[in-house]
Amino acid sequence: MTRDWVYIGELADHVGANVQLRGWIYQKRSSGKIRFVVLRDGTGYLQCVAGIKDVSPEVFEALDRVTAESSVAIRGVVRKDDRAPGGYELGLTDLRILHLAAEYPIQPKEHGVEFLFDHRHLYLRSKTPHAVLTIRNEVVQSCRDFFYQRDFVLIDSPILTPNACEGTSTLFETPYFDEKAYLTQSGQLYLEPACMAFGRVYCFGPTFRAEKSKTRRHLTEFWMIEPEVAFLELPGLLELAEEFVSYVVGRALDRCRESLKVLERDTSLLERVVPPFPRITYDDAARALAEPEAQAKMREAGAPAFAYGNDFGGFDETLLTRRFDRPVMVTHWPAEIKAFYMQPDADDPTKALCVDMLAPEGYGEIIGGSQRIHDHDLLAKRIAEHELPEAAFRWYLDIRKYGTVPHSGFGMGIERCITWITGLPHLREAIPYPRQINRLYP
Ligand code: 4AD
Ligand code: MG
Repeated sequence: MTRDWVYIGELADHVGANVQLRGWIYQKRSSGKIRFVVLRDGTGYLQCVAGIKDVSPEVFEALDRVTAESSVAIRGVVRKDDRAPGGYELGLTDLRILHLAAEYPIQPKEHGVEFLFDHRHLYLRSKTPHAVLTIRNEVVQSCRDFFYQRDFVLIDSPILTPNACEGTSTLFETPYFDEKAYLTQSGQLYLEPACMAFGRVYCFGPTFRAEKSKTRRHLTEFWMIEPEVAFLELPGLLELAEEFVSYVVGRALDRCRESLKVLERDTSLLERVVPPFPRITYDDAARALAEPEAQAKMREAGAPAFAYGNDFGGFDETLLTRRFDRPVMVTHWPAEIKAFYMQPDADDPTKALCVDMLAPEGYGEIIGGSQRIHDHDLLAKRIAEHELPEAAFRWYLDIRKYGTVPHSGFGMGIERCITWITGLPHLREAIPYPRQINRLYP
């Protein structure tokens, strides 16, 4: 692709040269006979300076007239300047206004969250979203690289499905000609057959849950990356999960320093994320939460008391993860509160061979996974017990009829992972256009 302009991110190669840049006006100010504009082009920010004698009267007038977020083509001489943000400054010689922006609705540090997300189509231009979505790009790429490098095969799973994967209470239903279809909650059911064909597979795509509650950890549309491996059992799955998460965090630390700095993330906490991760059973976690000290903290915080046999609440997770400096993997949950497809523990069939990985610093569950039931009759029984429509699961049961083997997989919510890495308070920042119970716009 040929172009006659350079990007701010390329200025190191153009010091001393007179170059053209294209972008938008981020800020401007003036001081006597000098005009300053900060140009933004998606790859960085560049302060441009023009004295009244450096440019034609028309250009000087354009510098006064140009408004925030106007699109412009600028020419000037690149100077190395260690004090300037980004390390360069431009001695501006020409400015052409391509489109004069109307009064821009977003002012620095002036708006509430609802306003910003009502203007998400513009808010994307601001520094925080730019840094977060730059990190998202790296996280997604590193997830794909991790599995590609390990010879996993990408198998895209369908979005329109005839059946539920993760319980029927959060299904989005949609008419499908003369039938009903559901938006997928997870690609897992479609990966299991694929791992019998390819050995090691993964999928990565949008997933949907009709989450009726408004929490900082739930979106109704989110992206999940899911590996599935034939002949793999729970201990191997835990190793895969800790290796994967360490790799993804390491890549963000290596390649997203600038963005993490913009977000003021304490990266020392992320540096500690290396295998092995601690493993505790659900029962051990429940015992820890029953200790008088933990109980006192719950009362102090006004958090609901943890009752054995239930999911952990947000505060329970914070108490549990506080004991460790890296993610913790909670295994062997009571089978009855987990999904129908999970393999029971041979030593205690009331427990499932499964894992939830909880991120440190109170970020909660980032991964859910398990060994899958590979016995046909047991799986058929579970489908019946969960009152799932047998006909819709016939193909899924089929896998257990032809050379069935133990197999395991997990799913990581990309936005949960990004929210933790970036240190943000809410998942909505981690996706370009969040979908929540009260948000479908823009
Ligand atoms: O624990 P979950 O429900 O597991 C599954 O869907 C399995 N079928 C995955 C598998 O084994 N292949 O969801 C997996 C992860 C969670 O740990 C969390 O990170 C994320 O998906 N997640 C959500 N992220 C954002 N908003 C929501 N409403 C989410 N629900 C789950
Ligand atoms: Mg889960």
